Amino acid sequence: MANQTIKKEDLKIRKAVREHYAEAAVKIGGCCGDESSKNSVKSSGCGCGTSANKSDASSRVFYNTEDLSSLPEDVTGLSLGCGDPVTLASLKEGQTVLDLGSGGGIDCFLAGKKVGTTGRVIGVDMTPEMLDQARANRSKIGAENVEFRLGEIEHLPVADDSVDVVISNCVINLSTDKPQVLREILRVLKPGGRMAVSDIVTSGELPEVIKQSLSAWAGCIAGAMDEKDFIQAIQQAGFKDTKLTPVYFDEELISDFSRQIDGFETLDVDKKSLRKTIFSAKITAEKP
Ligand SMILES: C[S@@+](CC[C@H](N)C(=O)[O-])C[C@H]1O[C@@H](n2cnc3c(N)ncnc32)[C@H](O)[C@@H]1O
Repeated sequence: MANQTIKKEDLKIRKAVREHYAEAAVKIGGCCGDESSKNSVKSSGCGCGTSANKSDASSRVFYNTEDLSSLPEDVTGLSLGCGDPVTLASLKEGQTVLDLGSGGGIDCFLAGKKVGTTGRVIGVDMTPEMLDQARANRSKIGAENVEFRLGEIEHLPVADDSVDVVISNCVINLSTDKPQVLREILRVLKPGGRMAVSDIVTSGELPEVIKQSLSAWAGCIAGAMDEKDFIQAIQQAGFKDTKLTPVYFDEELISDFSRQIDGFETLDVDKKSLRKTIFSAKITAEKP
C-alpha cells in the first residue's frame, strides 16, 4: 500500500515534468508560438537554466561563444541546461556518447562535433515534443552521427557496456528514482567509461514549501539532491573516482530560478541564502 502511494506520487511528478518540457519544446522550439509567446516562456525560465538576460536561453550563460557559434540559433535557443557537460567530458574522436534528457539536442550536437564521423551520439528523452524538436534540429544541421531515442533515463533504451561517456545537463534532478538512473548509467557504460554531468544540487535543507511544489520540481529545484547524498549514491551504484565541483549562480540567476515556482514571491524564504543552498555542479565518475 505504501509503495503504491509512492508510485502514484512519482507518476504525478513525472507527468508534471513531461508537460512542463512539452510546453517548453513547443513554445521555445517555435513550431506554434508567435514571437511574444516565445519570449514569455524564455523569460519565465521554463527549463533548469535561465539567464541573466531575460530574452536569452541558458546556452548564453553556460557555453563558450566559439562552441555556440558553430550551431544555428534555433538550436542554441532551446537550451535548458545548467552547465556545459560536453566541455567537462573532454570527448575524443571516435567515442560513443549518451546524453540523458537530451531536450532540443544542444549537447548532442556539440558532442557530435567532438567525436567526429567515427564517433556517435545518442540522445534519450521521455518527452515526444522535445524529440520532435531535436530531430528537426538534427535535419537542419545534418548531424549524421547523432540520433535521438524516446525513453526514460530510469530504463535506458541502450545496450549494456556500449557507451564511452554518459553526459547529462540538468536532468537527473528531475528523476524520482535517482539510484536507478545511476545504476542504468553504470550498466550502459563500458568498463573504464565515464559520466560527466552538470546538474542542480543542494547543500542543506530546502524550505518545505519549495520541496512540496510541483512547479519547483519541474524547474529543477525541488528534486535536486544534497551534494553529499549525490556523491554517496554515485559511489553506492558502483562508480569510482567521484568528483563534484560546485558552480554557484549569481543572484540574478537565482531570481530567475525562483520565478519558476508558483507563488514564490509571496513565500517566507530568505532568497539571498538560496545561492549557497541550491547551485549547479560538475559531477564526474568512472565505471571500474
Ligand atoms: C531541463 S531540460 C534539459 C534539456 C537538455 N539537457 C538541455 O540542456 O537543454 C530536461 C529534459 O529532460 C527530459 N526528462 C526529464 N525527466 C526525464 C526522464 N525521467 N527520462 C527521460 N527524459 C527526462 C525532459 O523531457 C527535458 O527535455
